[in-house]
Amino acid sequence: MGIESSCDDTSAAVIRDGVLLSNVIASQEIHRTYGGVIPELASRAHQQNIVPVVDVALKKAGVTLDQLDGIAFTRGPGLLGSLLVGVSFAKGLAIARDIPLMEVNHLQGHILAHFIDVPEKQLPHPNFPFLCLLVSGGNSQIVLVRSYGDMEIVGQTIDDAAGEAFDKCAKVMGLPYPGGPVIDRLAQTGDPTRFKFAKPSVDGLDYSFSGLKTSFLYFLRDEMAQNPDFIEQNRNDLCASLQSTITDILMNKLIKAARQFDIKEIAIAGGVSANSGLRGAVTAEGEKRHWRVYLPEFRFTTDNAAMIAVAGYYKYLDSHFAPMDVVPEARLENKL
Ligand code: KG4
Repeated sequence: MGIESSCDDTSAAVIRDGVLLSNVIASQEIHRTYGGVIPELASRAHQQNIVPVVDVALKKAGVTLDQLDGIAFTRGPGLLGSLLVGVSFAKGLAIARDIPLMEVNHLQGHILAHFIDVPEKQLPHPNFPFLCLLVSGGNSQIVLVRSYGDMEIVGQTIDDAAGEAFDKCAKVMGLPYPGGPVIDRLAQTGDPTRFKFAKPSVDGLDYSFSGLKTSFLYFLRDEMAQNPDFIEQNRNDLCASLQSTITDILMNKLIKAARQFDIKEIAIAGGVSANSGLRGAVTAEGEKRHWRVYLPEFRFTTDNAAMIAVAGYYKYLDSHFAPMDVVPEARLENKL
């Protein structure tokens, strides 16, 4: 069983021999009112959700507690109070059932989502070594993946994450949280070439998104001073242009990394990997450059326990168990 509780989704999943039997996710609606995740409310909601979520995951899988061979949990990175709920639950279950514990780095989980097997069809798995563009609300990284447990961050954001750029720019336009999916939807009917926004110039394979956010803010402020209805009248073009800028920034370094490491196996992962502009761009570049491109199924892009269960499964096979005094860690993003 895998348990995920790093942010605002409580999730439990059951796999057998790497094949997914159930994946239950309880999303916390309460944060919408505030336009962002409130950590204390998140940990309280996890406490309420965890037992019913685990119960439903077992029932859906047709498995009883005493049939579990191991329990994997997200150790970090994430919100400390939220992580604590999952870690404590996993430890309790491991002690009660006398089964091993596997700790999983949430970011490794996102990457290993590409190795989830489902009963109904064959999902493609990348071949090692591959490059994974990991883009979520908290991280933007290019990861060189040599095996299930051997990963190296070769580039990452020096400030905001790509998802944060989507969410913050959406907020400025008065769109609801999380803004990424909303921008994606509105961008479908907008002109991506209409507005040009500043692209950062950062050395090597690193990213930066805070300048884009600031220049977007100033641009809107100036336009709104002349025409208070500017956002209203140009919303879809703004969304399309912004999405295209973020996609270009992400692709630029991904192409550079593929060339630098001479790797043609390219995957994307994390919440922003659901973005249609990014998926289209990776596919198009892949055709041009003879990459083999791996796009995760939409249900495995955002936070879910299936990816934690799979990551834990490979640790289980290696007898790579966590000690009972393991504690959650809020900051684990640099320790793949
Ligand atoms: O991986 P995730 O669920 O949570 C983190 O671990 O951060 O990612 C959430 C992020 C949010 O910033 C959200 O706006 C973004 O993923 N996101 C998208 C899309 N779907 C989710 N961004 C752009 N386009 C989307 N379709």
